[in-house]
Amino acid sequence: MEIHARYGGVVPELASRRHIETVGFVVDEALKAAGKSLDDITAVAVTKGPGLIGSLLVGISYAKSIAYSKNIPLVAVNHLKGHIFAAMIENDVPYPFISLLVSGGHTALYLVKDHNDITLLGATRDDAAGEAFDNASKIVGLGYPGGIIIDRLSKSGRADFHKFPRAMISKNTFDFSFSGLKTSFRNYITGETNEYLEKNLSDIAASFQEAVVDVLVSKAFKAVDKYNVKGLVVSGGVAANSRLRERFYEAGEEKRVNVYIPSKALCTDNAAMIGVAGYLDLGSGTTEYLTLNALSRYYI
Ligand code: KG4
Ligand code: ZN
Repeated sequence: MEIHARYGGVVPELASRRHIETVGFVVDEALKAAGKSLDDITAVAVTKGPGLIGSLLVGISYAKSIAYSKNIPLVAVNHLKGHIFAAMIENDVPYPFISLLVSGGHTALYLVKDHNDITLLGATRDDAAGEAFDNASKIVGLGYPGGIIIDRLSKSGRADFHKFPRAMISKNTFDFSFSGLKTSFRNYITGETNEYLEKNLSDIAASFQEAVVDVLVSKAFKAVDKYNVKGLVVSGGVAANSRLRERFYEAGEEKRVNVYIPSKALCTDNAAMIGVAGYLDLGSGTTEYLTLNALSRYYI
């Protein structure tokens, strides 16, 4: 994280080099923590995409070498499916459910009838929710990754200090848009003095965060209503946000909807979610060949 913080975001070439340096160590540590050896493993799941091609290729090459040398199946996992099924690690979520996926690169709503039957209901037309957090943090000079920084700062702030726009909140669509919020935030910040900003920074952060969370809560529960499901899964890096978690659980109780949000470490990118999604695919016989390639763009 430190090497990326220096540049205000992930630098693809640095990321893939770090992957090469660490992948072997990470796999060894995971096996050690589980009290297993490679000989106990019956299949390998690996992320096929979407993502940074260099990093994906490192993972795929490593996974292929394990599958080949141990003669076990290789399962290719969509990163987004990994985020959705992260919810299955701690809960047995019954189908069908609505999934709200909020990460640094994606913001989307899905109707999930089964692990192989997922329908996209809507997605962001411009920035992702996580990107909005990262941008806001950068604009006020607080650095990367913005979500955690804004989250922490907001805890001592007033969410009703300033009203930022809630784009498309009442429109009859499951699409999102966060670029207008980014512009509005930038205009607001550049229009105020440094003294004012310093004094009110936590209030401004909390007001910004509330605008993002308001839209997400509103759209997700509208989808639950429309498709008449009992469960709502919220996952992806932004689902680690404290205020988001609080608001979704509150609304779930009020509307009698079962809300499932993975614990914070399982919301941000992790390998366990790829393992679970791969396990589900393996159960339905979906395996890959050693010709498997990475896809930087790969949607559900
Ligand atoms: O899912 P993720 O780890 O990676 C992607 O697949 O993109 O999500 C990363 C995003 C970043 O934009 C980061 O700022 C955001 O998740 N994020 C948060 C929080 N923790 C991470 N956003 C809001 N509040 C948080 N606590
Ligand atoms: Zn992710």
